[in-house]
Amino acid sequence: MEQIQIIDSKKHVGETVKIGAWVANKRSSGKIAFLQLRDGTAYFQGVVVKSEVPEEVFQLAKSLNQETAVLITGEIREDSRSKFGYEVGISGIEVVGESTDYPITPKEHGTDFLMDHRHLWLRSSRQHAVMQIRNEIIRATYQFFNDNGYVKIDPPILTGSAPEGTTELFHTNYFDQEAYLSQSGQLYMEAAAMAFGKVFSFGPTFRAEKSKTRRHLIEFWMIEPEMAFMHQEESLEVQEQYVAFLVQSVLDNCDYALDVLERDKELLKKYTTLPFPRISYDDAVELLKKNGFEDIEWGDDFGSPHETFIANSFEQPVFILNYPKAIKPFYMKPHPTREDVVICADMIAPEGYGEIIGGSERATDFEYLLEEIRNCGLDEEEYSWYLDLRRYGSVPHAGFGLGLERTVTWLAGIEHVRESIPFPRLLNRIYP
Ligand code: 4AD
Ligand code: MG
Repeated sequence: MEQIQIIDSKKHVGETVKIGAWVANKRSSGKIAFLQLRDGTAYFQGVVVKSEVPEEVFQLAKSLNQETAVLITGEIREDSRSKFGYEVGISGIEVVGESTDYPITPKEHGTDFLMDHRHLWLRSSRQHAVMQIRNEIIRATYQFFNDNGYVKIDPPILTGSAPEGTTELFHTNYFDQEAYLSQSGQLYMEAAAMAFGKVFSFGPTFRAEKSKTRRHLIEFWMIEPEMAFMHQEESLEVQEQYVAFLVQSVLDNCDYALDVLERDKELLKKYTTLPFPRISYDDAVELLKKNGFEDIEWGDDFGSPHETFIANSFEQPVFILNYPKAIKPFYMKPHPTREDVVICADMIAPEGYGEIIGGSERATDFEYLLEEIRNCGLDEEEYSWYLDLRRYGSVPHAGFGLGLERTVTWLAGIEHVRESIPFPRLLNRIYP
């Protein structure tokens, strides 16, 4: 007898098969028992009819606890009443692993309780749906960049450089030297772009931010493309095409997960229309001032209410262009005619999900960068290799970083970034 996974049920209608699964839930009467089964690929229903199976099979079915692991024997049938479309008519059950007093029950639990049981919470249907969307975004990312001629390059995680400012670093010892956990691979990706043309990275990054918001993780995954011989305008086109591709891929391949999460697919569809709107930082400040935000002044960074208001003024993700130089990192290209802004853009997601991309054209001039590195109080020696990129064949180049978890949170339509990563690292939480 063939052992199959639930997801492949449609290929086995009418066949008797074996399935390894866990009992997610159960209800029974005197004559029939329904087991909600999950095997990691999908959820479906197993039906045990008292009159059709040996008495001990029926009694065993009725006695199964939540999250007991079982090997089921049964016939796959169509089930038009369920969204999944198939069920199994059970004829035999073998218990593989007992489960007693499973802590997460179908009743409501508080967030702290669920976070303490994240290793088990991951088994629930909502979390399963979110992780499928995450997986699809990862798959589509590789497809997009591979199809468009990018080379995947892995920057180091242990590093001596601090591209995004020195305040949010995780310090560690590298033998007798001080080192940090990478907060961005960007500077290394610039070196890679000079070697391979168009490159992208995909890896973990770390920020010791004391922020406890629904958008901040301490450890998160970032996709960082970098393109040689490219200016900012073209980079913005790559960004919007990439994000629209992610949205379309999730719509195409995560239909079931989006339904579990009750995500509005018509709304998502709108986010695939190109181009995305663009607004300058200057105009964004004016827009906010005109709409009752008295706290904002030119030169301030936007907080989350500001970003949400700007996002709500448009139907798609929006680019905010050319922020003040004083609030952005040292490597950004200065504006050709203005001293106070740099050539950069943040992409703000709709529906209040905030910034999902930060990017810029990079400064190419050796003297300018050296000066900026000094002004930022950074150690010149540490950046000597980076300056070499401006010594030997410096070219216009641009790149960006997309935060994986913020993108998952947005496309899944969930409340908080902590549910977008299997084991979130948050302020004051490193368990489990
Ligand atoms: O805007 P950021 O800091 O940009 C960079 O690190 C650049 N070096 C990227 C580049 O140009 N290669 O971060 C990029 C993105 C943000 O837009 C956001 O989506 C995400 O990373 N991000 C976070 N996500 C979760 N938790 C945090 N604490 C995050 N900080 C940034
Ligand atoms: Mg940013």
